[in-house]
Amino acid sequence: MYKITLKKQLSKDIKLMGIEAEHVVKNAKAGNFVILIPHENGERIPLTIYDWDKKTNVVYIIFQEVGVTTAKLGMLNEGDSIFSIAGPLGKHFHVEKFGNVAIVGGGVGVPAIFPIARALKEAGNNVTSIMGFRTKELIILEKEMESVSNKLLTATNDGSQGQKGLVTDVLQGMINSGPKLDLCVAVGPVIMMKAVAELTRNYNIKTIVSLNALMMDGTGMCGGCRVTIGGKNKFSCVDGPDFDGHQVDFNELTSRLGTFKEEEKASLHHSKIQLVGR
Ligand code: NAD
Ligand code: FES
Repeated sequence: MYKITLKKQLSKDIKLMGIEAEHVVKNAKAGNFVILIPHENGERIPLTIYDWDKKTNVVYIIFQEVGVTTAKLGMLNEGDSIFSIAGPLGKHFHVEKFGNVAIVGGGVGVPAIFPIARALKEAGNNVTSIMGFRTKELIILEKEMESVSNKLLTATNDGSQGQKGLVTDVLQGMINSGPKLDLCVAVGPVIMMKAVAELTRNYNIKTIVSLNALMMDGTGMCGGCRVTIGGKNKFSCVDGPDFDGHQVDFNELTSRLGTFKEEEKASLHHSKIQLVGR
């Protein structure tokens, strides 16, 4: 069992949790993820690692309550324990000095770009982070992202804070005004990562996306996280989650992510859990 040392509400349905897990913290790097099981009979939840503290052995995750299991995770409090946490899983983000880097995060994808921005900045890159949210009330991690970026740009769909529009509008502005980007990283909804990759393809800017494929075991055994990259089968959990955005079959990913939508709805209905804001 793994003790919850911190729980904080970041926006209406997004929570930050700190969990004591020495085995995860020991080897955690930017881009790794964990699979946790809140209760003995609970389902597995894959979550990108947001941060970690080697002094306290606490790993930090940020999650949105989107179904029964994440809602049950959100009901646990400081002092409670989590049944299981496996990790760090996946290949970590490849860090080197690329030059001018744009790191794009959409909504609840922003926690996943935080450690990547930090690692790239520490490696001497000129990091501009772009965060996109539907509206001002949903903005999270503004100060944190500022601290790991040379420049932080924010967009909201309704214009309530930052530039009005989508992250791709901000990215297009950056590309137009220069200097030339050497790397772009994008994490968020599949439709956003697809839009970013389509934009950067026109300018030949290398683009890495982090795929949130369906996952079960997280060790390459079940095949649940299969994605097609450059026409070849890959497993997101062991070959990724980071891939070349210009090679990803985003349409297939979207369709596979929808596989259990009806079952998820039914499970939520039977649980009688009411998700915030839905
Ligand atoms: P959202 O729908 O509120 O979108 C966030 C932002 O993404 C928008 O404000 C906009 O700027 C941008 N965006 C959305 N659609 C776009 C489009 N068509 N073109 C260009 N930009 C677009 O996001 P949300 O509800 O917070 O959901 C976040 C998603 O991120 C979830 O689907 C989750 O599965 C995913 N996620 C992925 C990872 C990962 O590692 N890949 C990690 C965490 C979350
Ligand atoms: Fe089972 Fe990747 S989650 S193979």
